[in-house]
Amino acid sequence: MSGHRLTVLVVGATGSIGRHVVTEALHQGHAVRALVRDLERATDLPSEAQRVVGDLTQPESLSAAAQGIDAIVFTHGSDGGKAAAEQVDYGGVRNVLQALGGRSARVALMTSIGVTNRQGDYNRTTQIHDWKRRGERLLRASGLPYTIVRPGWFDYNAPDQHRLVLLQGDTRQAGDPSDGVISRQQIAKVLVHSLTSDAARAKTFELVAERGAAQKELEPLFAALQPDAAGALDAVRDSANMPLADEPTRVLEELARFSTPKR
Ligand SMILES: NC(=O)c1ccc[n+]([C@@H]2O[C@H](COP(=O)([O-])OP(=O)(O)OC[C@H]3O[C@@H](n4cnc5c(N)ncnc54)[C@H](OP(=O)(O)O)[C@@H]3O)[C@@H](O)[C@H]2O)c1
Repeated sequence: MSGHRLTVLVVGATGSIGRHVVTEALHQGHAVRALVRDLERATDLPSEAQRVVGDLTQPESLSAAAQGIDAIVFTHGSDGGKAAAEQVDYGGVRNVLQALGGRSARVALMTSIGVTNRQGDYNRTTQIHDWKRRGERLLRASGLPYTIVRPGWFDYNAPDQHRLVLLQGDTRQAGDPSDGVISRQQIAKVLVHSLTSDAARAKTFELVAERGAAQKELEPLFAALQPDAAGALDAVRDSANMPLADEPTRVLEELARFSTPKR
């Protein structure tokens, strides 16, 4: 599929990762549509990127952004607080997928290393892991072709630390940079490349970098991963520590709605 020019909606385009995604997608030859809630925050995005105004918490504001797109890269995030985690980190995924109105799109979703860690202080305070993970689950349930990238700590890498390592099982859960580090630019590159990679389809992985040079080709890295099991809500090898029986009713209802072929 490489070389295929897509119209890519970047969700979180004004954020610290989203800005790199916009640049990288243009670099890879795609047309970019940047979802922004405040045009003033988008003045320094490349002029070739189309800006579309929308707020992830207001579903009706997302229709125009979702028209005519081939792909979506989600890099959005809330600024803390349980309500914002639900409304933005999870609700943003739900509302943009809903705005597709049943049309298909290739999706790359960025969440976080440690997203399955429920008992750490960070998740107990913010519930951000849980809500990001519910966003992952909704995407898997949707049946859309996807790749889910769980990056380590942004830009904590040393200058010579660019050799990409893709992990599965989400077993690094210290909650600090010892779990893994990665440059923002490399996260963006992996997200955008995944959109045109058959080998990246239905794959979920943690993304970190070790000392050494960046690999020239990403395909072998994607190809070496196990795909998520068909029909499973969690990633392959994830801990089964979020039983549906304990999930909020509204989450179960939305999972059921998104799992319906004609949603
Ligand atoms: N820092 C790390 O090491 C690390 C590691 C792994 C994962 N993460 C996760 O990565 C995520 C993104 O990080 P980042 O540094 O790129 O965050 P960021 O710079 O704060 O960017 C967040 C983006 O989301 C957008 N956004 C927030 N609420 C919105 C809404 N209601 N409607 C539309 N857009 C909205 C923001 O738009 P505005 O510009 O309008 O605010 C911005 O574009 C975070 O959620 C974090 O949990 C971080």
